[in-house]
Amino acid sequence: MSLLTASRNLVDNLSHHVQKTLYRKNLIKLAPLYNHAKWGDTHRFAQHYQKHFAPLSRKKLNILEIGVGGYDDSTSGGDSLRMWKTYFPNSNIYGIDIVEKQGLEEERIKIFKGSQTDEAFLKEVINETGELDIIIDDGCSINEHRIKTFNILFPFLKDGGIYAEENTHISYWPSLGSNWSEKGEKSVYLANCINVGGSIDLNASHTIMAMYKRLADGLNYQEFLNPGYSPSYFDKHIVEVHFYHNLVIVYKGENNEGSNIIENNTLQPHILQELGVNSLEELAIDFTTATSASNKV
Ligand SMILES: C[S@@+](CC[C@H](N)C(=O)[O-])C[C@H]1O[C@@H](n2cnc3c(N)ncnc32)[C@H](O)[C@@H]1O
Repeated sequence: MSLLTASRNLVDNLSHHVQKTLYRKNLIKLAPLYNHAKWGDTHRFAQHYQKHFAPLSRKKLNILEIGVGGYDDSTSGGDSLRMWKTYFPNSNIYGIDIVEKQGLEEERIKIFKGSQTDEAFLKEVINETGELDIIIDDGCSINEHRIKTFNILFPFLKDGGIYAEENTHISYWPSLGSNWSEKGEKSVYLANCINVGGSIDLNASHTIMAMYKRLADGLNYQEFLNPGYSPSYFDKHIVEVHFYHNLVIVYKGENNEGSNIIENNTLQPHILQELGVNSLEELAIDFTTATSASNKV
């Protein structure tokens, strides 16, 4: 390397370092300094994260991100973990990846190797980290796997915690890498797009977006007129669901506000009185076709 190139690199590195310090509280400017391809032009998550995370940035939090980056290369990845480390200067940053990434660990960044669908592994991780304040899923691109991870990890969020689901495009098309055929046939990829199903049938129930749409309904579970309905853990512990392009953000809390008309999923006595009946049965409404709640989503 020539002296000129070396000094140019040094100046670039210094300027990068100065900018990271300068923009440490502004994710919109900070994020592209860590990974321009992800945050700069194509992924617009930073503006949403800035809105939700800014009030928390100086706190001492436990933050977990699924998907360290770099895929099969164990020496590559960690951009977002390092970005969170700068943005949350008092927090512990944890990462999970199916590929060994421990070489990327730094002070305040710890990385676990395992699959986001392996319940025993995830529980071991929680044993080490303790309950979490923020969970971000930017891992596997399979709907079923993301849904399983949410079911396992959401209960380990603290009250007031935030769960962020990136890349909800997987509801509509699969990621390129894992679905390109060996011969690079585009038709195979396109067939896989159709198989995902969420583009053709927006009510397809198996996608990650469908899960969050159901969880959004759960915000109103106390308004459901459905005698015998048994609220799920998620009904009772989700207080906000924010939908953005390619990103969903969920807040945990006690969802117990109550309704003006419904109590225990049936009409309140004063409403029955106003309707001139003593019980719902007298109204002869058939609730037998109502779907029963499950504790999973
Ligand atoms: C999009 S990259 C993560 C990028 C990183 N969050 C960033 O913004 O810099 C996805 C990562 O998820 C990992 N991954 C894929 N399937 C996984 C699974 N089942 N469990 C854990 N990690 C997985 C991949 O190895 C890859 O490194």
